[in-house]
Amino acid sequence: MTGAPTKHAKLLAWVDEIAALTKPDRIEWCDGSQEEYDRLCALLVEGGSYIRLNPEKRGNSFLCRSDPSDVARVESRTFICSETKEDAGPTNNWMAPAEMRSTLNGLFDGCMRGRTMYVIPFSMGPLGSDISEIGVEISDSAYVATNMRIMTRMGQAALDVLGDDGEFIPCVHSVGMPLADGVQDVAWPCNDTKYIVHYPETREIWSFGSGYGGNALLGKKCFALRIASVKARDEGWMAEHMLILGVKNPRGEKTYVCGAFPSACGKTNFAMLIPPKGYEGWEVTTVGDDIAWIKPDAEGRLRAINPEYGFFGVAPGTSMKSNPNAMESLHSNCIFTNVALTDDGDVWWEGMTDEAPAHLIDWKGQDWTPGCGRPAAHPNARFTAPLSQCPSLDEAWEDPAGVPVEAFLFGGRVASNFPLVFEAKDWTHGVYLAATMGSEMTAAAEGKPGDLRRDPFAMLPFCGYNMADYWQHWLTLGHKLAGNLPHIYRVNWFRKDENGKFIWPGFGDNMRALEWIVDRVKGRAHAVESPLGNVPAYTDINWNGLTFDQALYNRIMTVEKEKALREVQTQADLFDKFGDRLPKEIASMRDLMLAELESAPEVWELPKSA
Ligand code: GTP
Ligand code: SPV
Ligand code: MN
Repeated sequence: MTGAPTKHAKLLAWVDEIAALTKPDRIEWCDGSQEEYDRLCALLVEGGSYIRLNPEKRGNSFLCRSDPSDVARVESRTFICSETKEDAGPTNNWMAPAEMRSTLNGLFDGCMRGRTMYVIPFSMGPLGSDISEIGVEISDSAYVATNMRIMTRMGQAALDVLGDDGEFIPCVHSVGMPLADGVQDVAWPCNDTKYIVHYPETREIWSFGSGYGGNALLGKKCFALRIASVKARDEGWMAEHMLILGVKNPRGEKTYVCGAFPSACGKTNFAMLIPPKGYEGWEVTTVGDDIAWIKPDAEGRLRAINPEYGFFGVAPGTSMKSNPNAMESLHSNCIFTNVALTDDGDVWWEGMTDEAPAHLIDWKGQDWTPGCGRPAAHPNARFTAPLSQCPSLDEAWEDPAGVPVEAFLFGGRVASNFPLVFEAKDWTHGVYLAATMGSEMTAAAEGKPGDLRRDPFAMLPFCGYNMADYWQHWLTLGHKLAGNLPHIYRVNWFRKDENGKFIWPGFGDNMRALEWIVDRVKGRAHAVESPLGNVPAYTDINWNGLTFDQALYNRIMTVEKEKALREVQTQADLFDKFGDRLPKEIASMRDLMLAELESAPEVWELPKSA
């Protein structure tokens, strides 16, 4: 290929092969420069896909409205095509690789006609770090190219790291709307037929028909979680749906923790937490808000990097009150997808301000007024923002060695009978607690928001192999790293009262649970033993600056035995799917839980003080 900015023979041959299949009008290698980004954004504005926002309100930023049918990840169209169905496991969609290849060959044949094929080299993780990996995405979407420049270290720098013969993960993406034969282009091209496909053995990604987020920005969920989780299993590390944050107490002692919460359950918010009133001298800093790659160092201690370079965050609910660090990251250089447009060329979404503007253009491009009965922004509207713009960014965010992990938090959305925070008794118990995590469905994926579903490790939609083998991988790492292991916690910010209102203030006040966790890790906080695990008593939590009495605390900590028993009993629905692939340690942990619950009191009263 002439004019290609690399001598990497395998990469060049692959680009030729994909071009021969998809038949684009042009091929463009992305260099990652500002000039290129500006040119692509201008092109998208010209074609009606991007709206340039008021530069006085949001410098160099754009609004994009997706097709109303292409607004979230499509889990029903996401496939793990391992050689055997058993290796994909019962929680993944599977099709035989040969059959899938033949289907996709048909769909991709000529699918880029009339379009530009962008070749997008990227690094997941700091350039050149031992923990980082290189990918190359081929896409016929300039939306993807521009978002990838914010979300990854993209362009010539990644090619330089790759060299002439380095390894890369090939990622092929098409919106699936060729422009041949007088087909008129639209602002958001996509196809009713969608396939998000992973071949774990050959480490390839193929995505067809969607332009949205995790379906199309292939470095994110497809590579950094589904393919990376397989690599991690084979190589002895972890690829997790986790935020990474640092917390510094007034004495200057720093602790890093990772937290796995399902999609739209608070990772970005927790990663950017601002300590509340009463926590003067405390500081929380952000390393990552969605994905962590975690490897044991030479001493057997787990160290984490954020493979991403930007935030693809949930917009609704983000405000100066709930998440000022996110808001301040959004002043310029951002892409907003499916939010509303204000009359003065700025963006707005539900929850941004107490009062909605008197008039907006909603995410579908229609006039909107308060009380019209429609949301102004889609519930899964997102901002794409550079990590470097985050005021709470941790000083070690680009440290190629990663940050040391001292605790793992797992948290879903559970409205009742689940405590604010408690500690696993040991690693195996923690793996069991994470494996059985339940959470209400959110708008981040198709499906009915509010329905409860199991989301083990917040990885249900993102594990690239059999989930039972994934649990075994966690257990095996636990045995290997014994003595150096982080503690494991379950948290739940989402308990509701009988009127459906959240009882816990959440957001900055989650610091109170975090302080207890840090002090437990350091061996200086008290806990009460319970059948669930080690629970903080009312006086074990720091209430400085917040009025939250013991009665309220009991309402977010109390567990009714009958409900807890039923919960453990229904875990069989999940575990039975895995047959004898379910790790024995997990099965016996559940038996132990059942036995302990049987002999527990009807309702657990928390002692008033330690
Ligand atoms: P993904 O990007 O989909 O992986 O989501 P995420 O886990 O980063 O979730 P995010 O922090 O964006 O939060 C999603 C929604 O949960 C937003 O509407 C938040 O306002 C809300 N939320 C976050 N933290 C809290 C909390 O502590 N309490 C309550 N009540 N809501 C919260
Ligand atoms: C999620 O759904 O968990 C996200 C957004 O972080 S997406 O990039 O679409 O996966
Ligand atoms: Mn996510």
